[in-house]
Amino acid sequence: MIRRPAAHELDAVLEIDEASFSWKMSPAERARAAESVEAGVVRVAELGGELVGALGAFSAEMTCPGGGLVRAVAVSNVAVLPTHRRRGVMSALLAHLFAEARGSGHLLCALYASEGGIYGRFGFAPGSFAATYRLERGAARLARTAAGQPAVRLLRPTEAAEVLPAVFDLARRQRAGELERTPGGWAALLEEPTGPAARFVAAAVAAGEVMGYAIYEVVSNAPAGCAQPEAPVAERVARLVELVALDDAAYRALWSYLIGVDLVATLVTGPRPLDEPLRFLLEDPRALEVRRLEDHTWLRLLDVPRALAARRYRGAGSLVLELSDDHCPGNAGRFALVVDASGQASVAPSGEPADLVCDVAALAASYLGATSWWTLARAGAASAATPAALDRADLLFGTAEQPFCTPGF
Ligand SMILES: CC(C)(COP(=O)(O)OP(=O)(O)OC[C@H]1O[C@@H](n2cnc3c(N)ncnc32)[C@H](O)[C@@H]1OP(=O)(O)O)[C@@H](O)C(=O)NCCC(=O)NCCS
Repeated sequence: MIRRPAAHELDAVLEIDEASFSWKMSPAERARAAESVEAGVVRVAELGGELVGALGAFSAEMTCPGGGLVRAVAVSNVAVLPTHRRRGVMSALLAHLFAEARGSGHLLCALYASEGGIYGRFGFAPGSFAATYRLERGAARLARTAAGQPAVRLLRPTEAAEVLPAVFDLARRQRAGELERTPGGWAALLEEPTGPAARFVAAAVAAGEVMGYAIYEVVSNAPAGCAQPEAPVAERVARLVELVALDDAAYRALWSYLIGVDLVATLVTGPRPLDEPLRFLLEDPRALEVRRLEDHTWLRLLDVPRALAARRYRGAGSLVLELSDDHCPGNAGRFALVVDASGQASVAPSGEPADLVCDVAALAASYLGATSWWTLARAGAASAATPAALDRADLLFGTAEQPFCTPGF
């Protein structure tokens, strides 16, 4: 049985999380997890009178190509006790979630997958990708200096807490795939690190307005109680936690600041978009090394006609898509997508021959513009009536920027 947990079952939910992910929460993590359980939507699976599985979800706006905002359900902490695996518990939790989310008008579902083999069978596909980068400061010289770029100044933690949410809220509307960040997400992001790292927030300011920020951490001192001397500069690493810019000038100013931070040899980033312009800010583009490239958010379309109509396309054209969906039968069938010159689409059931045939996961892969229809067709994940149909689909679905999702959840 899938249901809401009762208030007295909070500990049991957190214990499922710990046992499933094989970790133990610190008291602070436990308090934060308890808060997010209370703030979000949690569903538990009960079997033989025992709680054996759980998932968390919250409703959030997601930005579509073209800037439209849709309601998505962001899913996290899908967890089944190690003693009760491979008996369909997660499948039951997801089926329940899909039905509930569709019923409450959510067009799609997003998650970060712990393992790549789990979610494809449920109609998910990577909807965005991320790279983590490494930059040796010694090799990183800017190719050009821009005149009149915004000034950069450091924000105190209290200022950061006041200013950053509004900047991010504007920025997230500019890139497909971005989700709004919850108050709990902000609290976790802005929490001072507990380890030896020192955290700083640099803001790009133009005409008195904060146009972007970079949160970064540097381990410059030995941890308290550690007998080791301070790390030599050659071993010091700055870690970029988050960089958000409202325009290109702020983006360039923040990178130019980060490259200039002294007493640091290496700059590493957390997940960043694949099409990071930084490479082209550098005199030697190879100074920016990709440490890891991975799928980022996974997407599952819950209401295909409305999701297709919610995004914008690049120019006028039409396509007939034939879709299969084993979990949300309302998505299966043939749909005509007709896009006008402004990029706005109307979507209606169609009896015409299909231009593209695929399952709902392939559509999720292309929905935000992360993966081309040609790539999907080459992998056998989509088939096209003609090569011209693939060209047409890529012209329509293609985006100038790669999608990305900044908040973790
Ligand atoms: C992943 C997890 C939630 C799966 O729960 P479960 O109840 O065992 O899953 P189900 O029994 O419903 O499995 C459904 C299908 O997914 C497959 N599957 C489950 N876990 C899988 C995994 N880790 N990798 C690949 N396939 C997996 C099952 O084999 C089954 O396939 P089938 O439909 O072909 O029979 C559970 O193993 C778990 O808690 N893992 C650790 C925490 C974690 O990684 N959670 C995911 C967070 S994003």
